[in-house]
Amino acid sequence: MATGWADTELQDLRPVEQAPYAARRRAALSARFPGERLIVPAGNLKVRANDTHYPFRPSTEYVHLTGDQTVDALLVLEPRPDHPDGGHDAVAYLLPRSDRESGEFWQGAAKGELWVGRRHSLAEAEQLLGLPCRDVREAAEELRAAPAAPTRIVRGYDAGLEAAVATDEDRDAELKTVLSELRLVKDDWEIGEMRKAVDSTVRGFTDVVRELATAIATSERWIEGTFFRRARLEGNDIGYGSICAAGEHATIMHWQRNDGEVRPGELLLLDAGVETNSLYTADVTRTLPISGTFTPLQRKIYDAVYEAQEAGIRTVKPGAAYRDFHVAAQRYLAVKLVEWGLLEGDPDDVYELALQRRFTMAGTGHMLGLDVHDCARSRTDLYVDGTLEPGMILTVEPGLYFQPDDLTVPAEYRGIGVRIEDDILVTADGHENLSAGLPRTSDEVEAWMRGLTGA
Ligand code: GLY
Ligand code: MN
Repeated sequence: MATGWADTELQDLRPVEQAPYAARRRAALSARFPGERLIVPAGNLKVRANDTHYPFRPSTEYVHLTGDQTVDALLVLEPRPDHPDGGHDAVAYLLPRSDRESGEFWQGAAKGELWVGRRHSLAEAEQLLGLPCRDVREAAEELRAAPAAPTRIVRGYDAGLEAAVATDEDRDAELKTVLSELRLVKDDWEIGEMRKAVDSTVRGFTDVVRELATAIATSERWIEGTFFRRARLEGNDIGYGSICAAGEHATIMHWQRNDGEVRPGELLLLDAGVETNSLYTADVTRTLPISGTFTPLQRKIYDAVYEAQEAGIRTVKPGAAYRDFHVAAQRYLAVKLVEWGLLEGDPDDVYELALQRRFTMAGTGHMLGLDVHDCARSRTDLYVDGTLEPGMILTVEPGLYFQPDDLTVPAEYRGIGVRIEDDILVTADGHENLSAGLPRTSDEVEAWMRGLTGA
């Protein structure tokens, strides 16, 4: 079995589209840590049971800096102390093709190519990624033998390597923070990928509306499966567990069991995002009347959330405080809650005391990109207390949630939850709603549903 196999090496490969962008990100990182060795692992497979594994998703940091998605890989930025410009040499350590002579091709269901499919050879990977590639099985030894240099590793992905390099926890955390901040502003290629993620997500929401009758006859699971089909057809996966929350499940922020009934007359809160093959994700929410028409109370609540979201989105522009959209949306909802008699007092006082939070619950948005809650390790002064810049992409997602057991609100409110979430790109002179392909006002939602279901 060891011999008689053709040479299948691929020739004349072109670098992947993101290769020059990844090179610029590595250069930006290099400038932040002169003279230090930086190690960015992709991560390892996680056992589900025996010889089966959870689907592999490489670390966001590794993908951002290489464009590669392979298991066990790592990026090393090796400092060049003698070089006049300083800087670093980048090397990707990857699993090479599995060898038939040694038998590894057939053995090992986790990594043998008979089981998992062909990998790129190191020479092929060098052409695709545009950086030198070496055998990852030699990495620990090569790092041990390398000239002494202060070293940092991105922790949390490769326990074996962390133990081998024995670095300082606080300094490693600082590396992770800088990498998080490096993703705050997206480059043109990333913005293109985010458009793809959102456009696929729009099609996924459309699929769900078309299949609402089957969901009514089955359960929320049909909605989950319908959206997932679109995600796998057009992208890599869903970017986070889909929230397919019908009826009072909409008052649970991250309802992902998705095993409830879908009843006409109630609302469906669908919060879902397609992750592209490059691993960028959308994060969109629409709240839909399952029968196709809002009741007067559902419409009143929906319209208030819509206006709050509009107030938030209007603030998004370069130079604005990141917090502005949150403040604008929360203030608007405080006014409405007082107007409806659900909270007492001056709306400004209600807002200052955060009394509206009983019904608005979660934050009003977050950065978006390779992670659904992207850039989460960034320092406060650059993120939540920071200033918007062109190229940032964030969600604006206010909501009102009346818990089914909340005795402080009239019974008819209980169990209603509404969230509207869009993905907003900060442009040079304002913003662009990337998810505007889905209807947002109550009238538009109803008309859209009528058009899709024929009801
Ligand atoms: N879409 C889920 C979240 O933003 O938490
Ligand atoms: Mn979100």
